[in-house]
Amino acid sequence: MPLLSVSDLTVTFDDFTAVDSVDFTIEPGETLGVVGESGSGKSVTALSIMRLIEMGTRAKITRGRVELEMPDGSTLDLLDQDEPTMRSIRGNQIAMIFQEPLTSLNPVYPVGEQIAEALRIHEGSSRKASMARAREMFDLVRIPEADKRIGQYPHEMSGGMRQRIMIAIGLCCGPRLLIADEPTTALDVTIQAQILGLIKQLQVETGTAMMLITHDMGVIAEVADRVVVMNQAKIVEQGPVEQIFHSPRESYTRGLLSAVPKLGSMAGHDGPRPFNLAGDLA
Ligand SMILES: Nc1ncnc2c1ncn2[C@@H]1O[C@H](COP(=O)(O)OP(=O)(O)OP(=O)(O)O)[C@@H](O)[C@H]1O
Ligand SMILES: [Mg+2]
Repeated sequence: MPLLSVSDLTVTFDDFTAVDSVDFTIEPGETLGVVGESGSGKSVTALSIMRLIEMGTRAKITRGRVELEMPDGSTLDLLDQDEPTMRSIRGNQIAMIFQEPLTSLNPVYPVGEQIAEALRIHEGSSRKASMARAREMFDLVRIPEADKRIGQYPHEMSGGMRQRIMIAIGLCCGPRLLIADEPTTALDVTIQAQILGLIKQLQVETGTAMMLITHDMGVIAEVADRVVVMNQAKIVEQGPVEQIFHSPRESYTRGLLSAVPKLGSMAGHDGPRPFNLAGDLA
């Protein structure tokens, strides 16, 4: 029984179809990688699952089902739920982390308070209990000197630290699914590797399933169990990560894979050469 089952999901902006008849499932504890070039519909898919896409935009979810298996074994179609129900699902069942942690954090509150507040809202914990748990979350996401850092403001932290805070907020209420939309793209390469390593480790420790959105096939190879490949609002291919890498069925997927720089591929060149996905496929 999948944890999440998305079927025929279709999302439009006025006349434009941003997500077209998308079907996929996520099993408990599994990492589903979602790849595809800019504008292919990855974020719109994620925001639709969270029922955040129609807020403040002209988006309409015109068709489909997003079925979540609840802890009691029942199934909820998230597309049929009212906003109060969705608010309790967000955080408690499904959490989401975004690319740029600075825009998701409140600049005027210390980071520890922000984790504690998430706990109070979702779990109704007391102030004391939630601060103690926030302190534990600092250890979980491997932030050193937790006692000092818990009182810092977002601007006092590095990008990597801020993303650790976002991961802590995402995981603090024990969601069964974490949706991470380009969680490391805004970070420099060495920090990207650390954050990805952390996400992967926490996922094993906590058993949380993950939908990981990225442009980066290298990241997919590192962390995904299965892969969904999107192009122009549609899923063009999906399968286990080994199959996608070793025997991709679609030329589009082969194009994405050929765009992954190979070690030593710059030998004899002064700088990176631009690649052309369409040209590479021709
Ligand atoms: N708020 C919006 N209003 C109008 N169109 C939108 C809006 N958000 C997304 N779109 C359009 O929907 C399509 C899918 O966008 P989406 O953000 O899902 O792409 P993406 O795959 O996440 O790309 P990226 O890799 O650049 O993040 C794009 O054509 C985009 O322009
Ligand atoms: Mg996106």
